[in-house]
Amino acid sequence: MELDSSFELELELSSLPQEKWWGNNCLFQLGGFWHWPQTIQGVNRVIKHFQPLPSDIILASFPKTGTTWLKALLYSIVNRSSRHRLTVDNPHTIIPTLEYDIYGTSHASAMPSSINHSRRILSTHIPYQILAKTLDSSECRVVYVTRNPKDTLVSTWHFINKSNKAKEEPWPFEVAVDNFCRGLIPYGPYYDNVMGYRKLSLDRPKYAHFLTYEELKNDPITHVNKLAEFLGCPFDAEAQVQEIVNGCSFQTLSNHQVNKSDGFPPRITMPSNSFFRKGVSGIIKNICLLRLSRELMHLPKRSFIPTGSSN
Ligand code: A3P
Repeated sequence: MELDSSFELELELSSLPQEKWWGNNCLFQLGGFWHWPQTIQGVNRVIKHFQPLPSDIILASFPKTGTTWLKALLYSIVNRSSRHRLTVDNPHTIIPTLEYDIYGTSHASAMPSSINHSRRILSTHIPYQILAKTLDSSECRVVYVTRNPKDTLVSTWHFINKSNKAKEEPWPFEVAVDNFCRGLIPYGPYYDNVMGYRKLSLDRPKYAHFLTYEELKNDPITHVNKLAEFLGCPFDAEAQVQEIVNGCSFQTLSNHQVNKSDGFPPRITMPSNSFFRKGVSGIIKNICLLRLSRELMHLPKRSFIPTGSSN
């Protein structure tokens, strides 16, 4: 990637389909997916300019499906001797998100100093359908994490309602359910985002690995081992895996002072503690909003989501 080159081809927002999300907030559509007005230029720049290196690891996800957890795990798997860094820095500070941190402004930003240049880990929420040319042109490894849609929506709802925008005008839960079911959500439709990467993992298993939040929660040792094997850096001893699983658990990470803070980590527009809420599966049971279950029943059933973890 060229650093400090300025990007000429910017999107004309008025030429894109847009729809009211809630209150005065609009989303814009690019390539069939919805985006925040403040991130869509970054998304477009990634699509146009990002060239992954064959050694890169791209963590892809729909927001609120376990990105923070996977950032911590991937960092620890790849940089075993320096994983203590997670005790002093938020995972989002260590692993940049392409469309926000690198391509978020009209000049490409330098990679953060935390980046290991021989094995860069970069993250994105951009759907495969619009990033396919970029990803397919490289032998980089893609890891995609997904999560039960109900927990994803509940987590999204809490997260968005902590943002400054929602302080002016909260996002009502009923509206959130309606938005989610219609696909009108940043980087959505959710199912299309998931299915794009699911298909990639089936078509190119050597280059793309697909896992769910729920299976990682149920059996972290097995899945961390699988991740390490997929990335070509398997473990010699089970004790190493256990240490990484413990060091990246919700309990451990959320108790580091840096992640308890309501201050903003470098480059991030949300407080550090907003990335750690409950960290469990099946939280919808506590919410008792039957409409969500009813609405989601009408969405197509997909076999990649483990059943029984959220009803
Ligand atoms: P909840 O809001 O359900 O608690 P993302 O990182 O993609 O933004 O996803 C955030 C969700 O992952 C939040 O879910 C958060 O609590 C949870 N999370 C963050 N770190 C985690 C960890 N180490 N283990 C399990 N869940 C984690």
